[in-house]
Amino acid sequence: MTGNDNSRAAHDILDWVLSFLEDNEGYRVWPDMVPGQIYRAQPDRAPLSGKSLDTVFDEFKTGILPGITHWNHPGFAAYFNSSATLPSVMAEAVSAAVNTNTMLWKSSPAGTEIEQKTLDWLQKMLGLTGFTGITYDGGSASSFHALAAMRENFLGPEYRKAGLFGLTGDHPVIYLTEQTHNSIHKALITLGFGTDSFQYVRVNDDFSMDTLNLCELIASDKRSGRQPACVVATLGSTSCTALDPVDDIAKICREEGVWLHVDAAHGGSAAVLPEVREKFDGWEKADSIVVNPHKWLFIPLELSVLFVREPGVLKNAFHFSAEYLKTKQDGRIESYMDYGIPLGRRFRCLKLWFSLNYHGIDFYRRKIEQHLSLARLVYDALDRSEDFEIMAPQPLSTTCFRALPGSGEDADSFNERLMDAINGTGRFFISHTRLNNRFVLRHVVSGVKVTEKHIQGFLSLLMEIKQHMDN
Ligand SMILES: Cc1ncc(COP(=O)(O)O)c(C=O)c1O
Repeated sequence: MTGNDNSRAAHDILDWVLSFLEDNEGYRVWPDMVPGQIYRAQPDRAPLSGKSLDTVFDEFKTGILPGITHWNHPGFAAYFNSSATLPSVMAEAVSAAVNTNTMLWKSSPAGTEIEQKTLDWLQKMLGLTGFTGITYDGGSASSFHALAAMRENFLGPEYRKAGLFGLTGDHPVIYLTEQTHNSIHKALITLGFGTDSFQYVRVNDDFSMDTLNLCELIASDKRSGRQPACVVATLGSTSCTALDPVDDIAKICREEGVWLHVDAAHGGSAAVLPEVREKFDGWEKADSIVVNPHKWLFIPLELSVLFVREPGVLKNAFHFSAEYLKTKQDGRIESYMDYGIPLGRRFRCLKLWFSLNYHGIDFYRRKIEQHLSLARLVYDALDRSEDFEIMAPQPLSTTCFRALPGSGEDADSFNERLMDAINGTGRFFISHTRLNNRFVLRHVVSGVKVTEKHIQGFLSLLMEIKQHMDN
C-alpha cells in the first residue's frame, strides 16, 4: 500500500468519524447480540501479513461496529452517559500521534503543565479553589487513589514501613450509605479496610445521608474504641443522583478530624451551573473530590479527575522512585508518576484542553441547563400518568420511575420486561436500579445530542409498549 493510498484511507476514516459524530441515529443504540457472537466471528490468529487500511476499516465496519452499544447516541439514556464532541475526538487522534508520556515533567513538559493548567481551569469552572488535580482513567481509579491518601493520613508513615501485617490493632471506620458507588467498597477492600470497617449511615426519604445518624454512629463507634477515619459523601449517586448534605457532613468531619471524600463522578460537572453549585455547598471543604469529565462534560472515555486538598499526602502514599527516573528538575517541578500507581501515562488532558478552548464555559452551562429541563419533562409526564409512579426525587437529570402493571403481574418482573422491550427496539437504551427494594427504571439525560424530540420519542415508545404489555 502506498503513502497515497494510506492518506486517502485515513481521510475516508476521518470522513466517517465526522459523519458519525454529526448523525449516528441510524444505528441501534443497543446491538442485540448474543454473548460470543463477535468473538467467534473473528479469525483464530492475527494475519501473518498485513492488510490495507481500507480493508481493516471495512472489517471494523462489518465485524465490530454491529456489536457496539452506542453511548454517543441521543437515544442512550442508561447508566450515566459518556458522549463526545468533535474537538475531544480530534484531540484523541493528536494525543495518540504525538504519543507523549506524562509520567515525568522531563518525559513530557507540555503534557505535565497542560494537565496542571487545564485542571486549574476545571476547578474554577466548577466553583472550587485551592485543590490540586490529577487525572486517572476512571472514577473508580480516582477514588482508589483518594482513599489511599486517606489511609496514608490515617496511619501515618509507619504503615509504609510495617505494612498491613505490622498494624497495631487500629479499628478504622468508614462511613458510607446504601447509595455509595461500589468502586468505593472495592477500593477500600483492596486498601486493606475489611468490610468490618464499613459503617452504613441511614438515608433520608430522598436517599441522601442522614447526618443525625452519622453523628450517632460516630459517637457510638468512638465509645466502643473504634476510630472514625473517613466519610464518603456522594453528589449524584448512581442509582438516583441523591445529593448528600456535604456542608453538614464537612462540619462533622472537621470536628471529628475525619477525612471527607466526595464522589461527584457524575454530578460534579453540573456545578458549572451556579444554581446547581448551591446544592453542593460544602464540597469545597472536602479532602478529596472526584469529577469525571467523561460522564457529563462530553469528553470520550477515559478521563476522571481527582482533586486533593493536600497533594503531599497523596504523594506520600505513592512515590517510590528508581534511578532511571531521576531528573535534574526533581524538587523544582512535580511529576505525575509520584501521585499514583501508573508510571506511563498518556496525554489524557489534551482532549479536555481542546474542548474547553473550543466550546467555552457557556456551552457547558447551556447544555447542562437544557438537560435539567429535558429531564423535568420526563419526570412531569410520568408523574402525571396513572400508568407510572416516580420512585425518587430528581435533583439532577435522572428520572427513577416504574410502571404500574395493568394486570396482576408482579411489578418487578413487569418492569424488567418493559425495560428489555424498550432496549430491544434499538431506539432507546435505559437501565435499572433497586430503591426501597423495588425494581426501578432509570432514564438519564446527559448525552450531548439529546433534544426534546428524543424525550418525546422516548415517552411515546414507553407508553405504547406499556399499553401493549397490559393488553
Ligand atoms: C457516583 C459514581 N462514582 C463512581 C463511578 C465509577 O466511575 P468509572 O466508571 O469512571 O470508574 C460511577 C460510575 O457510574 C458513579 O456513578
